[in-house]
Amino acid sequence: MCGIFAYAGSENAVPLLIEGLRSVEYRGYDSAGISVIDASGVIQTVKRGDHKASLENLAVTVGDGQLSGVVGIGHTRWATHGQVNQQNSHPHSSSNGVVSIAHNGIIENFLELKDELVDSGIEFLSETDSEVLAHLVGKSVASGSSLREAVIGAASRIKGNTAIVAVSAAEPNIVVGLRVGNAGGIVVGKNADAAVMASDTIALLPYTTEVIYLEPGEVVEIEKGAIRLFDLEGLSIEREPIITAQNFEAAQKGNHPHFMSKEIAEQPDAIQSAMRGRVDFAAGTISLPEVTLTSEQIRSIDRVILTGMGTSLHAGMFGASVIESLARIPAAAENSSELRYRNPVIGPKTLVIAVTQSGETADTLAAMEHARRAGSPQAVVLELEGSQASRIADFTLPIRAGQEIGVASTKTLIASMTTLLQLAAVLAETRGVIGTTAVRSIVESIAELPSLVATALGLIGQITALAERLSKFDDLLYLGRGAQLPIAFEGALKMKELAYIHAEGYPAGEMKHGVNALLGPNMATVVSAPQNDLYEKMLSNISEVKARGGEVAAIATEGDVMIERVADHVIYVPKCHELLQPFMTLIPMQLLAYRTALALGRDPDKPRNLAKTVTVE
Ligand code: G6P
Repeated sequence: MCGIFAYAGSENAVPLLIEGLRSVEYRGYDSAGISVIDASGVIQTVKRGDHKASLENLAVTVGDGQLSGVVGIGHTRWATHGQVNQQNSHPHSSSNGVVSIAHNGIIENFLELKDELVDSGIEFLSETDSEVLAHLVGKSVASGSSLREAVIGAASRIKGNTAIVAVSAAEPNIVVGLRVGNAGGIVVGKNADAAVMASDTIALLPYTTEVIYLEPGEVVEIEKGAIRLFDLEGLSIEREPIITAQNFEAAQKGNHPHFMSKEIAEQPDAIQSAMRGRVDFAAGTISLPEVTLTSEQIRSIDRVILTGMGTSLHAGMFGASVIESLARIPAAAENSSELRYRNPVIGPKTLVIAVTQSGETADTLAAMEHARRAGSPQAVVLELEGSQASRIADFTLPIRAGQEIGVASTKTLIASMTTLLQLAAVLAETRGVIGTTAVRSIVESIAELPSLVATALGLIGQITALAERLSKFDDLLYLGRGAQLPIAFEGALKMKELAYIHAEGYPAGEMKHGVNALLGPNMATVVSAPQNDLYEKMLSNISEVKARGGEVAAIATEGDVMIERVADHVIYVPKCHELLQPFMTLIPMQLLAYRTALALGRDPDKPRNLAKTVTVE
């Protein structure tokens, strides 16, 4: 995830910017850069696109003391649009040189804006979406707007979640920051000599423990010893700072009460990270450079088995559903503890895909060893590169969600799903099942995924009352069909893990074969029923529950008024491409479990009897 650090004060900002970037380095990056306003009022930018060496190389480059200035911005980039190189690194300057900006997020309409700017005579120096912001802001500043007005104006033109920091040669004492939606947070703090801004609280601790978190739709100006907060209309906002505990763990949580709520909120960012360097939004293509299989091998695969445990198994189930539907290869997901002992018939034409956040889960590793002995080509979808699983697999697809501390997985799942969706598209295209037009349309849809998920995160208000209600039950049933089935399973798993309520995930079509015997007023049912081919079947399942006196909470597509006539409670999620619906319905499932856990006084970060990594059988 990209990182931001900005400084406005009285000391030389250059070494402080480097230190600030070091403290957000753990988020991951492949490029780094800083801009400072020098003593003559000119913006000077130094940046590096040297992968992991970027920050060290940047520190060496500016370490000769030639560059100095008391106001500046810094950025660590995880590439999304364009290669990892110096030109694409942030900050980006406007072509008139008056402003420099750094940006986190995806600008969904950047091609349209880029065309408009190119037509007006602007020359682009990078392949990034972010550079459009530099030119938009630069143009407004040159025509007399303040930096704050110009940043707000530019943000109003772009589609997507965004965090921006900017400096202007016209106002050399200030840095402006803006946040729209969830593209990573911005936190600000000050002492008598400086004001600082960063994407993580931890970077502010050398300056202050009193911090202010920007909410979506807010803009901030910092200046030596001063912080001024505004809304997007330019109206001033008064907010008292929060005192943050001076330890790493508390600071990592930022303004979230739990790691779980923080990790749920980080999901738009996690999706973006998982697409980095893989989706080319301008060209409309998806490629996975990590895949080492030849095209011929991919064409010869006759079966895919996905395997994992817990939440990772649910990611595998989602993967099986998209691989089968997009690439038309028979695909199924199986629990690793079962797969390892049943002596499965697999061989060189079976692609085995293990999904594991830690890469250390004992049963998953054993299933992988089995696949290796059987001579199956093998991939692993994981967070922790270099773990045991990546040594067993032929190739590794990192999900890059960033460290997950909450025991119950959230952002790991969404990043694994994003990675598997891309893999499905690559397999489908290589096998000639879909062509470039279909891939382009998938790219157009997934470009919106971070902001759709961010919108779904806004459901928390609707969820709280429902969570209170569900907390009164001892038994819950979760129903889904098709690609919604793993989401129903995940909803039930989260509820068990966090709230300690007995919850069962069930294929809705299976109800008549047993579970109907349990229906009645003592068991509530959560139904995942977005509008798709199976929607009407789900409506019938809801009616079945209602006819037996059961209470139903449905997760449905925005605008679906029909479902209100059958369900007792409806949570609406944004309308989207059918492939993306599981991402939408997953969010309320996570929020419901989290809120229900809180209603019952449980600790959502450390569920009883559970471990983050299960290294024994
Ligand atoms: C444990 C964790 C789960 C996780 C599962 C698989 O049960 O509590 O959150 O989904 O292990 O872990 P893995 O590291 O293989 O994804």
